[in-house]
Amino acid sequence: MVFSQRLSIIYFVFTFAIIFVASAADPRQFPFTTFSEKTDQSIFHFTPHSSIDQGALQLTPDSENAEVSYSNKSGRIMYHKPYRLWSSDNEDDDGVASFNSTFLINIYREKDWIAGEGFAFLIASDWNMPEQSYGQWLGLTNATTDGNAKNHMVAIEFDTRKQDFDPDDNHIGLNINSVRSSKTVSLEAFDIEISPEVGTNYTVWVQYNGSSKVIEVYMAKRIINIPPVRPETPLMKEPVNLKQYLKQDSYFGFSGSTGSRAKQLNCVLEWNLVVQEFKTRKNMTLLKIGVPALVLLVVFGVILGVGYVKKRKRTTLEESIVLGTLKRLPGMPREFKYKELKDATNNFHASMILGQGGFGVVYRGTLRDFDEANATNESAEIAVKQFSRDNIKGKDDFMAELTIIHRLRHKNLVRLVGWCYEKGKLLLVYDFMPNGSVDRHLYKASNQNTLNWEHRCKILAGVASALHYLQNEYDQKVVHRDLKASNILLDSEFNARLGDFGLARALEQERNSYAELELAGVAGTLGYVAPECFHTRKATPESDVFSFGAVVLEIVCGKSPGIQIIHGQHQFSLVDWVWMLHREGCIEEAVDERLNSNYALDEAKKLLLLGLACSHPIASERPQTQAICQIISGTMSVPSVPPFKPVFTWPSMGTAYSSTDSTVSNVTLSRITVSLP
Ligand SMILES: *[C@@H]1O[C@H](CO)[C@@H](O)[C@H](O)[C@H]1NC(C)=O
Ligand SMILES: *[C@@H]1O[C@H](CO)[C@@H](O)[C@H](O)[C@H]1NC(C)=O
Ligand SMILES: *[C@@H]1O[C@H](CO)[C@@H](O)[C@H](O)[C@H]1NC(C)=O
Ligand SMILES: *[C@@H]1O[C@H](CO)[C@@H](O)[C@H](O)[C@H]1NC(C)=O
Ligand SMILES: *[C@@H]1O[C@H](CO)[C@@H](O)[C@H](O)[C@H]1NC(C)=O
Repeated sequence: MVFSQRLSIIYFVFTFAIIFVASAADPRQFPFTTFSEKTDQSIFHFTPHSSIDQGALQLTPDSENAEVSYSNKSGRIMYHKPYRLWSSDNEDDDGVASFNSTFLINIYREKDWIAGEGFAFLIASDWNMPEQSYGQWLGLTNATTDGNAKNHMVAIEFDTRKQDFDPDDNHIGLNINSVRSSKTVSLEAFDIEISPEVGTNYTVWVQYNGSSKVIEVYMAKRIINIPPVRPETPLMKEPVNLKQYLKQDSYFGFSGSTGSRAKQLNCVLEWNLVVQEFKTRKNMTLLKIGVPALVLLVVFGVILGVGYVKKRKRTTLEESIVLGTLKRLPGMPREFKYKELKDATNNFHASMILGQGGFGVVYRGTLRDFDEANATNESAEIAVKQFSRDNIKGKDDFMAELTIIHRLRHKNLVRLVGWCYEKGKLLLVYDFMPNGSVDRHLYKASNQNTLNWEHRCKILAGVASALHYLQNEYDQKVVHRDLKASNILLDSEFNARLGDFGLARALEQERNSYAELELAGVAGTLGYVAPECFHTRKATPESDVFSFGAVVLEIVCGKSPGIQIIHGQHQFSLVDWVWMLHREGCIEEAVDERLNSNYALDEAKKLLLLGLACSHPIASERPQTQAICQIISGTMSVPSVPPFKPVFTWPSMGTAYSSTDSTVSNVTLSRITVSLP
């Protein structure tokens, strides 16, 4: 009896501790007065053509990416966490959460563009966007899904293009599961043009009263330096019971689209969202008891819990498993105290953020008295990766990364210095890389500061060597699964260090049938993912080689593999563009023009051909890492690449790499040079 009481008190204490930690760990929250590509990537879900650029959410391609076509695009950006829209405790109470959302939009178009197609504020059951939702579908629906109640979607559209079911090309509408609005309001009478010739910012207020179940939309031109004031009367005021259409937990965000001839930039510059919170009954009661009671509870919990905690040192089973696994790992690097890392990163201050990925935030830090053994007073620069708490899989990613990277030793891999698992927080500590990541140099630096040719060659040789080590020299094959320019870091001498092993998996030699492993929902970035992965959803050593090929082309051309290149009448992906230039006998035209001919022509041609060979659509035809290293070092001749890109076939006939027999790899090795006639 006493025991179970203690247990339940401990449970409450922990629940509160977890709620507290979870809310404190949220890095950025509403309101957003600007958006940062550095820190906000994981706060939103992006569809392929959407991004953060120039401090704004860009639903469709923006002017920064001039090589991307503006036409026929759609995109969605959703806040990463869903909101609970009604309480599940009380079935009879049909109240819905009230919310207020205010945002600043700029639906820009150039003077000779016809505006289109439109933009929408969206509440939806998930953050996926249907295919072919460009043009009139506004990134909301497509020809198949339009009108389907299973869309579970309510949106306010800002329509800039007239369809036959629209009143005009400048209206707002209430869209329920469809682009055919259940209510529209033309804006001409209000002297508002959504996408005028002269770029204009509009503040929009969308307010929902969950008891009267009425949605209201207000809009006002935003004049710079004058704070926005909501107009007295709404443009639209419509009853809508969200409970009837939406899921209980729904996402908030935006969508937008362009058409074939009609195009515009769909930008959100600021966003605030306040959703009324539904508390569960338990929480309600506890809140009524108030803070003093909570403090008492904690004190009692501690007093009563002491005996229990003494018996079982580890507080949760989960924690003990993690710690046990960590401590058993041979050659495990140093364990850090949470406080050391907190001090090193200036209390995880926002100014110390180096970057942010799907797995958490990376901070820069300085450790003092680092070398304890020699008792020197030197300080060391470190990078601390903090796994985010609301990523449920965070722990698995942490374990995967730790168990793999702690045993890898190679001069072109980022070195793991240590780890920390304390108070439910997972942290990994790496050497700090003063020159940041490769993509930063390729795209963010000014033209003069871009990587010079020697650096580019050195980086590629380093990455090839690291890849070869992972696939062959280490006692288990390791697939990195997320090889891309942003995961290649540079030390003070511009040596490449491959990092971010969050997705990496070790392939066990003796279990060939497991040689291919799940690629979590094809997590990789577009352009780096091998075509077969979209069918198998599995990463292999060959798909890492494909990603390497994309990196080679990217570094030599200075262009991202994800972009579309317009050449004459046609649009090409980066690899198709290089292949076309190769066919036309002028492959050197692909070399980054910012190098101004300051590069070795033969070497550049060699690397481009190697990049194409690695981009072979058929996995078994791609060179293996040993050949790649030899080609780069010049001890093996350049592969001959056919003038036309071979066709991707599925299922692939090849079986290379599924066996680990060394004779097989020799055979495959010799086949590469002749396999691309
Ligand atoms: C929304 O704003 C109105 C005032 O414009 C306010 O009365 C209401 O409480 C707000 N609702 C929420 C959920 O914050
Ligand atoms: C609409 O989207 C769904 C889901 O992505 C897709 O299955 C369907 O083929 C699409 N319809 C059209 C006409 O593209
Ligand atoms: C729109 O807002 C942005 C961000 O506040 C500002 O930089 C820009 O100058 C504004 N544009 C106009 C036309 O007011
Ligand atoms: C919401 O609607 C209810 C019922 O009509 C009303 O009493 C309440 O004042 C409204 N709330 C706001 C913030 O307008
Ligand atoms: C846009 O898509 C339509 C078909 O949906 C097609 O007819 C048109 O050529 C495309 N336009 C561009 C510029 O790609």
